[in-house]
Amino acid sequence: MASMKLQITAAAALLLLSVSIGDAEVFDVMKYGAKADGATCISQALMSAWKEACASTTPSKILIPRGTYALGAITFQGPCKAPLEFQLQGTVKAPAESAQFKEESWVTFQYLDHLTLSGGGVFDGQGKIAWSQNDCHKNKNCRKIINLRFNFVTNALVQDITTLDSKNFHVNVLGCKNFTFNRFTVTAPGNSPNTDGIHIAKVDGINITDSSIGTGDDCISIGDGSKNIRVTRVNCGPGHGISVGSLGRNKGEESVQGLWVKNCTLTDTQNGVRIKTWPASFPGSVSDMHFEDIKMVNVGNPILIDQLYCPWNQCKADIPSLVKIRNVTFKNIHGTSSTAVAVKLTCSSKVPCENVVVGNVRLTYTGPEAPAATSQCSNVAPSFLGTQTPSVCAKAA
Ligand SMILES: *[C@@H]1O[C@H](CO)[C@@H](O)[C@H](O)[C@H]1NC(C)=O
Ligand SMILES: *[C@@H]1O[C@H](CO)[C@@H](O)[C@H](O)[C@H]1NC(C)=O
Ligand SMILES: *[C@@H]1O[C@H](CO)[C@@H](O)[C@H](O)[C@H]1NC(C)=O
Ligand SMILES: *[C@@H]1O[C@H](CO)[C@@H](O)[C@H](O)[C@H]1NC(C)=O
Repeated sequence: MASMKLQITAAAALLLLSVSIGDAEVFDVMKYGAKADGATCISQALMSAWKEACASTTPSKILIPRGTYALGAITFQGPCKAPLEFQLQGTVKAPAESAQFKEESWVTFQYLDHLTLSGGGVFDGQGKIAWSQNDCHKNKNCRKIINLRFNFVTNALVQDITTLDSKNFHVNVLGCKNFTFNRFTVTAPGNSPNTDGIHIAKVDGINITDSSIGTGDDCISIGDGSKNIRVTRVNCGPGHGISVGSLGRNKGEESVQGLWVKNCTLTDTQNGVRIKTWPASFPGSVSDMHFEDIKMVNVGNPILIDQLYCPWNQCKADIPSLVKIRNVTFKNIHGTSSTAVAVKLTCSSKVPCENVVVGNVRLTYTGPEAPAATSQCSNVAPSFLGTQTPSVCAKAA
């Protein structure tokens, strides 16, 4: 009798902790002792909520209500027993000092299936101090603390979430399948170092839609082993543009296959849409890259294949790249270029680009002396659709 009573009390307590809304059980971090005072670290409260939600055999929802919270490095590890929605309504702030991090990540989601991250909230990486200490251009082992990591997460949706002022990359997506970012916002100053928006590698099926990314580095960068990526209605800028690569620097890189960048606008970015590979590279391959219906506003190198990518002179530039690029289209790309060379297709002399199509390109140069925009090509013989301004790969250009 006594034990039964105890069981009922325990069940009642559990009911108090988790309230059902719709069909998902809600685990509100406030009920686990979180304080929205912007100073008390909520890691422990959040981990307790996570553990219960993850163990739930029916769909569950973790809630961080409106307010500002301090949050230390944390990893949400699966597998969980049922689909889980992580609803961040408030703003969580990372420790500002990099020394407070043991690893190179702030918030990590890994080995999860059917994850939704939503709620309109903000992950604030508080990167200012880290940016001032950044020495990644000369130190290979520099600290790279990333705001959000998704490792081996499948069937996921990240929607109505903002990542702000990350110390290094904002988002790293690794080994994920069927993953969508929708109405996702990335914001960092244009001069913040290495704050790439979304970096993707070894994935299959990633869609990024209706999103806005402004950073100090690539808005979206796509690394090796990536397949079936669609970037649609994304505004990029400031930043370095949308990039495939850099590739070829490491041994054993897998191919990149299938990228569609459609209906995007790039504004004030250093580069537009680009594929970059290192000279003196390991072999590799890039195929089926499609850039269509893109508006360029004051963009440097709006259309760029760069197989001589060698920042900080870290390579033997005279040895050609061995990364093969084939089946690439640039179609309906309009707007203004901030560099006189608006279209630059610099392919490898060892493995020339194959099946490159350029169609209906209209780019004008906005520089001070305002000559006409030009193009530069090597080791590529594109085919054309419609008309191009500037004329692309013309001998006289
Ligand atoms: C892809 O993920 C979404 C979001 O979780 C899910 O609704 C959909 O069923 C998944 N698609 C497949 C083919 O599993
Ligand atoms: C991405 O979009 C394409 C085309 O709309 C769709 O076929 C595909 O299933 C989507 N994939 C994901 C991961 O949502
Ligand atoms: C792209 O933009 C055009 C014109 O704004 C619109 O008609 C079309 O539906 C858009 N396509 C996609 C895939 O968003
Ligand atoms: C490249 O495109 C051609 C036809 O346009 C196609 O037959 C071939 O399979 C494609 N290759 C790759 C690797 O995508």
